[in-house]
Amino acid sequence: MKHFLIVAVLVIISTFLVYFGLAHAGLFPAQASTQAVYIDQLFQIHIKLISFLFSLIVVILFYSLIVFRKKKGETGDGAYITGNTNLEIIWTVIPIMIVIYLAYVGAYTLGEVRQIDQSALQVKVTAGQWYWQFAYPDYSISTNELYLPLNRQVDLQMTSKDVIHSFWVPEFRVKQDIVPGQTTELRITPTIAGDYKVRCAELCGASHAYMEGLVRVVNQVDFDAWVKTQQSTAVQDPVLRGQQLVNQYGCTTCHSQDGSQKIGPTWLHLADSKVPLAGGKSVTADKAYLVSSILEPNLDVVKGFPSSVMPSFKDTLDQTQVEAIVAFIQSLK
Ligand code: CUA
Repeated sequence: MKHFLIVAVLVIISTFLVYFGLAHAGLFPAQASTQAVYIDQLFQIHIKLISFLFSLIVVILFYSLIVFRKKKGETGDGAYITGNTNLEIIWTVIPIMIVIYLAYVGAYTLGEVRQIDQSALQVKVTAGQWYWQFAYPDYSISTNELYLPLNRQVDLQMTSKDVIHSFWVPEFRVKQDIVPGQTTELRITPTIAGDYKVRCAELCGASHAYMEGLVRVVNQVDFDAWVKTQQSTAVQDPVLRGQQLVNQYGCTTCHSQDGSQKIGPTWLHLADSKVPLAGGKSVTADKAYLVSSILEPNLDVVKGFPSSVMPSFKDTLDQTQVEAIVAFIQSLK
């Protein structure tokens, strides 16, 4: 009985110490959404449970190792224990009750996190290798940065162009896979203004680690101002629009704008220049050639560059987008 009492006290002390350590270890980034509050409550329950279970195992383990170790001169076997029905009932029933409780809390949390606000801001998210694209159907704008107004729910309707990606902003806590051919949904109500990063949380190829996008939470006034600028630059200036698209679709990963050669040819002084082709012929990089190089990149590959590296953007970009990108390339003459 004495041993039980000592172990019980040690387990309690250890539980508090482990919990204190975990609670102050800075495990969590800022709690920046309404949904994060519920997720964190769930985390807190788990951290308490983890602290207790860790202590229960480790304290008993070390107590037994030290107190019941083989004494000097002891040669006999230890006590032969065959089983203990009471103990087995206890360690079956208690974990079942804990699991049922966690299932209840989990279902409750899921309900809270998925609550639908009818006045939510609609944003269509498209993920691809390797870019994020955010379209605001209410304002007819499309961008690679996710701007969100403070304290208003956003309804993210997400789909993928190629493989499975995953939308994850750690400060918002919630995370959702983005599956090609399906539309998945995520609801977020940002509560702290500031800059965050959306990361892809599903291994999606060579540049998975770099698949990041800016998420900026601003107040309503700044949001409206941002919408205005987006709308005006989008309509008025094809070169600016082209530059946006170039950043959005990650063209700059392979094509430089300063004359240096990366995986693909540089765009500096490219437009209307004479370009040697792989077959030995050459071609003038006029508008038609630039357009065809975006839609059918492997048709006329530039000499010295590998073929089949660049994907076709035929199904990704519409005609005005292609023309905007060409206008941007032409502006680098
Ligand atoms: Cu997209 Cu990882």
